[in-house]
Amino acid sequence: MNGSNPVVPLTLVIFGASGDLTSRKLVPSLYRLFVKGRLPASTQIVGVSRTLLSNDEFRSKMAKSVQEFAGREWSSETWSTFAQSLFYAAGDAANEGGLANLRVFLTNRESSTQGGARLYYFSVSPDLYEGILKKLDEAGFLEEAKPENWRRLVVEKPFGKDLASAQSLNRSMSRFLREDQIYRIDHYLAKENVQNLLVFRFANTLFEPLWNHNYIDHVQLTVAESVLVGNRGDYYDHAGVLRDMFQNHLLQVLTVMAMEAPSKYTADLLRNEKVKVLEAITIPTIEQAKKQMAIGQYQGYLKEKGVPNTSRTPTFASIRLDIDNWRWRGVPFYLRSGKAMQTRASEILIQFHCPPHLMFPLPDGAKLQCNRLAVCIQPDEGIHLSFQTKVPDQEKLVLKPADMEFTYGKAFSSLSIPESYERLLLDALLGDASLFMRSDEIERSWEIIDPFIRAYEQQGGILPESYPVGSMGPENSERLLQENGREWIPLYANRNPES
Ligand SMILES: NC(=O)c1ccc[n+]([C@@H]2O[C@H](COP(=O)([O-])OP(=O)(O)OC[C@H]3O[C@@H](n4cnc5c(N)ncnc54)[C@H](OP(=O)(O)O)[C@@H]3O)[C@@H](O)[C@H]2O)c1
Repeated sequence: MNGSNPVVPLTLVIFGASGDLTSRKLVPSLYRLFVKGRLPASTQIVGVSRTLLSNDEFRSKMAKSVQEFAGREWSSETWSTFAQSLFYAAGDAANEGGLANLRVFLTNRESSTQGGARLYYFSVSPDLYEGILKKLDEAGFLEEAKPENWRRLVVEKPFGKDLASAQSLNRSMSRFLREDQIYRIDHYLAKENVQNLLVFRFANTLFEPLWNHNYIDHVQLTVAESVLVGNRGDYYDHAGVLRDMFQNHLLQVLTVMAMEAPSKYTADLLRNEKVKVLEAITIPTIEQAKKQMAIGQYQGYLKEKGVPNTSRTPTFASIRLDIDNWRWRGVPFYLRSGKAMQTRASEILIQFHCPPHLMFPLPDGAKLQCNRLAVCIQPDEGIHLSFQTKVPDQEKLVLKPADMEFTYGKAFSSLSIPESYERLLLDALLGDASLFMRSDEIERSWEIIDPFIRAYEQQGGILPESYPVGSMGPENSERLLQENGREWIPLYANRNPES
């Protein structure tokens, strides 16, 4: 270290440090980054929430959850070293005097270097964002005296509950911070195979010529959860599946699947291309939305804790979206997500057109399975290309689909798939916003999803159809595709490899 130019201390301030997200995701991910030697050396982490805890109490609470959630990376020696960078400063961050302990901590830490860099992480309810920002501003904690004293803010999902509330949240945040200081999380973007989709598309020449309406019939995007709402019934019933999964995760995956190649892999160029996809999506009227969607509620949902027994909140939805541009004109994108489904899996299925003419005879009633490409995001990250083959040594010519497959598990067997929060925390610390959402992206996503939400929330709106726990959703979801002569293709996660 150069004595006249000391290393600028980097402080990660987590608001909501006594909460679930901090203990299950944030601190275990920071610990794993530390184990991998990726956490910048000058980083210290300070937790803020109202619960009174000493540094040692906070450390032992975190040690328990890291032991549980960091998996095989846990080691008590490494933890002891990591824990020396972990602190706690109790306070009600949205109220008068609530940042006093944080001020003491930051003054001690930064005074010898006349300032430091800070990443604020809001792991609290969005109702608190404005109040905490106001207090940070009043305390002078948002000032950037020099470029190296940067201030950034990470905010969690949900970001608003509709277009109007997202706009209002963006407006209130922009009173305190510039857009380039705000990092809005969607952890789906940080999943390995979502990022790999960009590499697959734009670091290869093989598929890109086929990636359009000339070769693709339609696209299916599924994010299926097998869990029920559990003890989040009250939160979930106010949200529903459209807000919980579609506005964020599903639309993000869709943009990566459908975007044009940016000229460089930089945050703004990447996000410009994603916004162009969102802008090209046709926004339906409420009446059109009713016809372009199917909603369901799993049997037993009305008995869940925190759920009113008259609730009409959908726990499942499938919708059709159309991207009205040169590449995708006429290619429907079917999106579905739900709780209590048969399996937990997220997959993109690309159905290619069938050959214009088939010279091979098929058995009576048989249909040709035309080429498919499946991108599995979880649980088994991989890519599968399905094509027809000739079954050897048969009396007559017999066709059978076969699979060409890539899986992360086999291709990179010595490497484990990281938790999305590792990537996101590191990127935010390093100032790379590529995997975070910009304000225009969020607002356009709400604009697209709002009519679908209104189609069931408004007076006289459509009602969810009941579906059994452990199924793939209600029958009306099948009808949504059957109307266009298509069907939901079984997920790879559910498929019988022999079939
Ligand atoms: N948990 C997840 O898996 C998950 C996933 C995605 C997104 N999120 C989002 O992440 C955020 C946090 O979720 P969570 O599940 O961790 O919630 P949580 O368990 O309820 O934690 C909320 C935290 O906020 C703190 N808090 C409340 N008022 C405060 C105040 N005035 N000043 C300082 N701290 C305050 C609470 O601690 P005290 O009571 O001690 O103050 C607690 O630590 C939410 O926006 C949620 O939507 C969570």
